Amino acid sequence: MAVERTFSIVKPDGVQKNVIGEVYRRFEQAGLKIIAAKMVQLTQAQAEGFYAVHKERPFFKDLVKFMISGPVMLQVLEGENAVAKNRELMGATDPKKADKGTIRADLANSIDENTVHGSDSLDNAKIEIAYFFSNTEICPRTR
Ligand code: PPS
Repeated sequence: MAVERTFSIVKPDGVQKNVIGEVYRRFEQAGLKIIAAKMVQLTQAQAEGFYAVHKERPFFKDLVKFMISGPVMLQVLEGENAVAKNRELMGATDPKKADKGTIRADLANSIDENTVHGSDSLDNAKIEIAYFFSNTEICPRTR
């Protein structure tokens, strides 16, 4: 299986609920390595740009408002099959539909405030990582 990188966000509700460590524990237990991380307060322009693909969706305005409502934790995860593995750990977009034991089923309140974001493909992972991290901020593990 290929070693991949994916992009992940602990959203404002996760930071507010103090579950960054719990989310990281799940990443690490699943064999994903955190190779870059930073806490930031997103600007409206950053959030709108990041979610531009959803700009025609009815929830776009609220999604942007939510994503700038407090700090978020951004990270790059590396590991075998990292994109799919992270999506599996996250669970379905709507926590009510997410499998038990997933981050969203266990920690999220609603589809609007669903605790984590994760890239949905390798191509998007590359774009999303580059949106928030420069190469010098990423620290690949050599062993
Ligand atoms: S969908 O509905 O299956 O197309 O959703 P998805 O493409 O997985 O992601 C949409 C992102 O918008 C966030 N969001 C919502 N989605 C659907 N419905 C509502 N009401 C909604 N509110 C917010 C959702 O969490 C996805 O965000 P990310 O950060 O990509 O996970």
